[in-house]
Amino acid sequence: MQLHSTLLLASTILAAVQPLTKRDYCFLYNNQDCRDFTLYEVRSDEIEKHMIIGDSTNIPAGLSEFHGIWYMNGNPLADECLSFANIKDNHDGTYTSRVYDQNIWSWDPSFDGKALYDGVRDFALTYIIKQTNANSYHVTPTIFTPNYLFGQNITVGDMLAEFDIVKTNDPDLWLRPSSFFKHYVGTYNFTRIVYGNGTRTKRYYSDYLPNIGNSIFLGIKGAFTTAGL
Ligand SMILES: *[C@@H]1O[C@H](CO)[C@@H](O)[C@H](O)[C@H]1NC(C)=O
Ligand SMILES: *[C@@H]1O[C@H](CO)[C@@H](O)[C@H](O)[C@H]1NC(C)=O
Ligand SMILES: *[C@@H]1O[C@H](CO)[C@@H](O)[C@H](O)[C@H]1NC(C)=O
Repeated sequence: MQLHSTLLLASTILAAVQPLTKRDYCFLYNNQDCRDFTLYEVRSDEIEKHMIIGDSTNIPAGLSEFHGIWYMNGNPLADECLSFANIKDNHDGTYTSRVYDQNIWSWDPSFDGKALYDGVRDFALTYIIKQTNANSYHVTPTIFTPNYLFGQNITVGDMLAEFDIVKTNDPDLWLRPSSFFKHYVGTYNFTRIVYGNGTRTKRYYSDYLPNIGNSIFLGIKGAFTTAGL
C-alpha cells in the first residue's frame, strides 16, 4: 500500500502545483505528454475487446511467455489487468512498459483506481523488465519528474519497490512477490485470462470474473489541451 499512498500524495501535490506551471515536462509517449491520457470505463466481461492482446506481433520474442492478457489476482493495489503489448525492446536484455499507456493496463473503477492512475500518469511510470534467470523476471519502476522537480528520469529502484514475476508449473499462472522499502509485503497471482490468440482461458471464468466488478477503467489518449496555460 505504501506505493499507492506515495503516488496518491505525489499526484495531489502535482495537481496543486500544476496550474502554476506549463505542462512541458514529459514526452515519453511518441513525443506526447503522458498527461494527455485519461481513463474510460468498459464492461469487465468484454475486457479482451478493449485491451490490446499481447501476441508475437507486438511483444518481442524474449517475452513470448507473456502473450495474452493477465489478471493481477489478489493485488492489493487498484490496478487489475495488464498486457505486455507494445512493450519496448531496449536491446540490452531489458524491456520498457509504459504503465499509463492506452489499452494495456486496467484499473479499479473507484476513487482508488482513479487516484492510482493519476499518480502513475503524472509521473510517467514505466516498468523496466529484465529476465534474471530461467524462472523469473525482475521489474524496476522508473518515474519521470517535471522540470520544476529536476526534470529527470528516476529509477525508483530496489530501495523503494521491488517486484518479481516468478514462474510456476502452470504457464498461465506466475507469482508476483512485492517488497516496499526492502520489506516483503506479499505475493499475488499473475494469471493469464486471455491467450495471445484472443481465446479466453479457464481462469477468465474461475479467477477473473468472480472477483471483478461489472466495469473496469482503461487508459486512453484523451483530449487534453494546453490552451490557456
Ligand atoms: C494463487 O494460486 C495458488 C496456486 O494455484 C492458489 O493456491 C491460491 O489460492 C491463488 N490465490 C488467489 C488469490 O487466487
Ligand atoms: C527520460 O527517459 C525518456 C524515455 O527513455 C527519454 O526520452 C528522455 O530523454 C529521458 N529524459 C532525461 C532528462 O533523461
Ligand atoms: C488459442 O490458443 C490456445 C493456447 O495455445 C489453444 O489451446 C487454443 O486452441 C487456441 N484457439 C484458437 C481458436 O486458435
